[in-house]
Amino acid sequence: MADQSSRRPQGGPGGGPRGARGGYQKPKALLPTIRKLLRYLAPYRVQLVLVLMMLVTSSACTVLGSYLLKPLINDYILPGDFPGLARALALMGCVYALGAACSFGYARLMVHISQTTVAAIRRDLFTKMQSLPLSFFDTHTHGELMSRFTNDMDTISEALNNSMGSVISSSLNFTGTVIMMFVLSPLLSLITFGVIAVMLLFMRFIGGRSRRGFIAQQKALGAVNGYIEEMTEGQKVIKVFNHEEAAIAGFRERNEAYRAAATRAQIFAGILMPVMGNLSHLNYALICCVGALHAIGTGDLGSLAAFLQYTRQVSMPLTQISQQVNVILSATAGAERVFEILETAPEIDAGKVTLEKQGSDWVWKKPDGETVPLRGDVRFYDVVFGYDPRKTVLHHVSLFAKPGQKLAFVGSTGAGKTTITSLINRFYEIQSGSITYDGIDVREIEKASLRRSLGVVLQDTHLFTGTVAENIRYGRPEATDAEVRSAARLAGADAFIRRLPQGYDTVLTGDGGSLSQGERQLLNIARAACADPPVLILDEATSSVDTHTELLIQSAMDKLMAGRTVFVIAHRLSTIRDAKAILVLEGGEIIERGDHEELLAQKGRYYQLYTGAAELK
Ligand SMILES: Nc1ncnc2c1ncn2[C@@H]1O[C@H](COP(=O)(O)OP(=O)(O)OP(=O)(O)O)[C@@H](O)[C@H]1O
Ligand SMILES: [Mg+2]
Repeated sequence: MADQSSRRPQGGPGGGPRGARGGYQKPKALLPTIRKLLRYLAPYRVQLVLVLMMLVTSSACTVLGSYLLKPLINDYILPGDFPGLARALALMGCVYALGAACSFGYARLMVHISQTTVAAIRRDLFTKMQSLPLSFFDTHTHGELMSRFTNDMDTISEALNNSMGSVISSSLNFTGTVIMMFVLSPLLSLITFGVIAVMLLFMRFIGGRSRRGFIAQQKALGAVNGYIEEMTEGQKVIKVFNHEEAAIAGFRERNEAYRAAATRAQIFAGILMPVMGNLSHLNYALICCVGALHAIGTGDLGSLAAFLQYTRQVSMPLTQISQQVNVILSATAGAERVFEILETAPEIDAGKVTLEKQGSDWVWKKPDGETVPLRGDVRFYDVVFGYDPRKTVLHHVSLFAKPGQKLAFVGSTGAGKTTITSLINRFYEIQSGSITYDGIDVREIEKASLRRSLGVVLQDTHLFTGTVAENIRYGRPEATDAEVRSAARLAGADAFIRRLPQGYDTVLTGDGGSLSQGERQLLNIARAACADPPVLILDEATSSVDTHTELLIQSAMDKLMAGRTVFVIAHRLSTIRDAKAILVLEGGEIIERGDHEELLAQKGRYYQLYTGAAELK
C-alpha cells in the first residue's frame, strides 16, 4: 500500500506552489532565470518587436483619445461648430479603433508566442526527464514533478500571455497619462497624486497582510488536499480497521484550519477594494470642485473634461502593474524550478561498445570495430554501493554468473537483492569495484545496448495505458502479432488474455488496475519473453498470489529461464531449489554461497530460512 501510494502524484490541484490568488512566490535568482527564459523567446525576435510597436501605438491611442476631449469641447461644442464636431468625433473614433486593433493584434501574437514557447519548455522538460538517472526520481516525489508540468507551466504561460504585455502597456499608459495631466493642469495633477500616494501607502499596508494571509490559506489548502488524497487512497485500509470516525475527525481539524485561514485572508483582501474605490471617488469629487472653480474663471471646460477622464484612468495601470508583477515574479520562480531540472546532470552514458544483431546472433561491437559474440557472462568484483554515498548498502560484493547459469539471491527484506540487480543494468553508478559483462566493464557499454540485452521482470510491475498486446510488445516494439502471442503463451498468460472482453486488444488503464496481481505479473513475464534477451533478471513479486497462479508464474518463469543466464531473486525458496548457485545476502554482504544441498548442510542462514527458523521475505 505504502509502496503504491508513493508512486502516485502527491500534490493535488492547489497543492502546488501557487493555487489561490495571492500566494505568490519569489524567484531566488531573478536575472539569470529571465535570461534563460529570453533564450526561449529568441526565435520570436521579429514578432516581439511587432508586439512592442503595437503596444506603444495602443497606449498612445488611449492617451490621445482622452486628450481629444479638450479640442472637442473648446473648439467645436462651445463655439457650436457641429460639422467640425462630427469630424472631431470621427477622428476620435478612428484613434480608439486603431488602439483597439493594436491591442487585439498584440494579444493575439503573444498568445501564439507564449503557447509555442511553453510547449517547447514542456517538451524539453519531458525529454530531459527521460535522460535523468533513477536516483533523481528517488529524491523527487511524483507530485513535485507533476507540479513542474502543471502549476509552473501555467504561471509561465499566464505571464507570457498577459502579464508581460500588460505591465508594458500599463507603464506606457501611466507615463503618458501623467505627462498629459501635468500639461493640462499642474495644480489638479498635484491633488490627484497626493491622493494616489495615500492609496499606495494603504495598498502596501494591506497588501503585506493580505499576502501573508493568502500564503497561510495556501498552506492550509495543501494540508486539506494532501489529507483527502491520502484518505482516498487508503479507503480500504480505513474500512478494514474501522477508522472512519478518526478519519472524519482528522478532516474536521484541517478543514477548520483552512476555513480560519481563508477567512482571515479574505477579510484583508476585502478591505482593499472598498477603501481604494472610495479614495478614488473622493479624488474625483475634489478634482471636479477645484477644476470647476478654475474653469469658471478661464472658460477652459475642455481641459477639465479631459483631465477628469485622465483621473479615472491614472490609478488603473498602477493596480495592474502591481498585480501583474506578482504573476511575473511567480512565473520566474516557476521557471527557475523548471530550469533546475533542465540543468540536472543526465545519466552518464559514455559507453562506446554497442550491441548488434548479426543474423540470429547478438554481438558486441567495440569502438575499434572488433565484434565479440554475446554470451551472457556477468561478474561483480568487490562492488561497493550506496544510494546515498554516505550510507553503504552493498559491501564488497563479488560474484559471477557463467553463461546459461542460474544465479539465485535469497536473504531477508532489505538485504540488497534488488539493489544488486539494479547495478547490472546501471540504474545507479557504483562507488568502487567493477562489474563486467562478457569481460567488458559495463561502464564501457552504451546504456541502450546494455539494457536491450538484459530482460528484467521488476519486483513492482508497471503496465501502461494501451492494449494488452501493446504492453507485451513494449519489450520489443518490432515484434509481430504472432511473436506477441507466442511470448504470452510462454508466459502462460495467453489463456487469461483470451478470456478478456477484447482479448489482446483489451485496453488497460491505470497500471492495469482491472487485472489481478498475478495476471499483471504474467503480463510482465510475457513482456520480458517478447524481448527475448540473453540475460534475465527476475525479481519475484513479494505480493502473494493464490497457489494456482503461483504455479502458473513459476512454470512461466521456468520456461523463460531456459537457456539463459538468469539472476533470480526468490521470495519462495521452491523457485530456486534447482539453482546451481545460491547466494545468501545479509545486510548487503554475501554470507553464504553454494547449491541447495550444500547450503542446507552448512546449517547456516540458508538452513534457517529454509526450515522457517528465520522469516523469509
Ligand atoms: N531507491 C532507494 N533509495 C535509497 N535507499 C534504497 C533505495 N532502494 C532500496 N534502498 C535501501 O537499500 C537497502 C536494500 O534494498 P533492496 O531493495 O535491495 O532490498 P531487497 O533485498 O530487494 O528487499 P526485498 O526482499 O524487500 O525486496 C534497503 O535498506 C533499502 O532501504
Ligand atoms: Mg527487492
